[in-house]
Amino acid sequence: MTTDTTGAAARDDASRPGGPADSPFVRACRRRPVPHTPVWFMRQAGRSLPEYREIRANVAMLESCRRPDLVTEITLQPVRRHKVDAAILFSDIVVPVAAAGVDLDIVPGTGPVVAEPVRTAADVQRIRPIGRDDVPYVDEAVRMLVKELGDTPLIGFAGAPFTLASYLVEGGPSRNHVKTKALMYGDPELWHALAGRLAEVTLAFLRVQIAAGVSAVQLFDSWAGALSEADYRRFVLPHSTTVLSGLADAGIPRIHFGVGTAELLGAMGEAGADVVGVDWRTPLDVATRRIGPDKAVQGNLDPCLLFAPWPVIEAEVRRILDQGRAAPGHVFNLGHGVLPETDPEVLTRVVALVHELSARPAEGA
Ligand code: CP3
Repeated sequence: MTTDTTGAAARDDASRPGGPADSPFVRACRRRPVPHTPVWFMRQAGRSLPEYREIRANVAMLESCRRPDLVTEITLQPVRRHKVDAAILFSDIVVPVAAAGVDLDIVPGTGPVVAEPVRTAADVQRIRPIGRDDVPYVDEAVRMLVKELGDTPLIGFAGAPFTLASYLVEGGPSRNHVKTKALMYGDPELWHALAGRLAEVTLAFLRVQIAAGVSAVQLFDSWAGALSEADYRRFVLPHSTTVLSGLADAGIPRIHFGVGTAELLGAMGEAGADVVGVDWRTPLDVATRRIGPDKAVQGNLDPCLLFAPWPVIEAEVRRILDQGRAAPGHVFNLGHGVLPETDPEVLTRVVALVHELSARPAEGA
């Protein structure tokens, strides 16, 4: 038996009527008519769910990302519980970087911590190119998930070069990204070498997921909002373009997301996205004017709003659906990830509400 490495067979199967490539989520990404506005939540697989905390009780984060059985179960948990329109692969943005040889760990309550932060050209050289054999557990988990999920699409993801570089240069999470910006402004050549290397790793990591059958990918540039538009265009856009435009031939929707990116929405679309993720600070109708008519939007309920009384949440969901109608396609989501303290029952109610409020009569009915 030969193993398909392009994903072509999986894509053919996925595009059958009613299959994942014809799902409301993928249709909205492609700006096609939908029976209802699709909804999923960034960080839906994770600590807001008791069944997640239970399964992770004695397994370290990176270890759990390398066990296809756990990845599959954790990815499915929010789909079963909330009836979201898409699953997102359970993994982390630093998984491919670890596979590329960087010594790091994910510390509970802190996030990714890098043993020897990147400072020199030699440090950059040590970040090896990766392929499927470096992340066999991701390939296997995606294949298992595609079978289990049936008609529900699976979203693959990776961290974008700037956000990954920030963890590598700072050595861990950072508020102001001081060392990262010092490197960027002080040694642009080294910066471009690092970001270029990370773009290659990210592109390869997404290709593994696509070949295994994911229906869409999201590039997380969570911390890009720390930059001015001019600096984003000079230091980051070329590398994120390597990733997103490099996937143009894959034939699946590409989502590009960051936080605090009101000034960057146009540029983030230009990187080669089909969908631009918007945080809660920019109304979706305003975002659409910045992004242009040829891209869908995703967002943008403030994750903190889920702690408000239900009538407040309901009014916000209505507002976001109304403003989302200005866009040629809308995928409902939060403006950033689900917070660990969130009541999962509220998430389930939001999914049902989005479906109810956005239901459109079937064509010809
Ligand atoms: O449901 C999903 O969205 C899929 C899973 C997912 C995780 N990380 C699991 C995870 C995704 C998409 C990510 C992406 C990620 N990781 C980003 C981009 C998205 C964003 O939120 O901006 C970033 C910046 C990271 C880096 C990272 N990893 C952070 C900041 C943390 C949290 C640290 C903490 O403990 O507060 C992690 C760890 C992590 N990744 C957890 C999960 C469920 C929590 C660790 C745990 O459960 O033990």
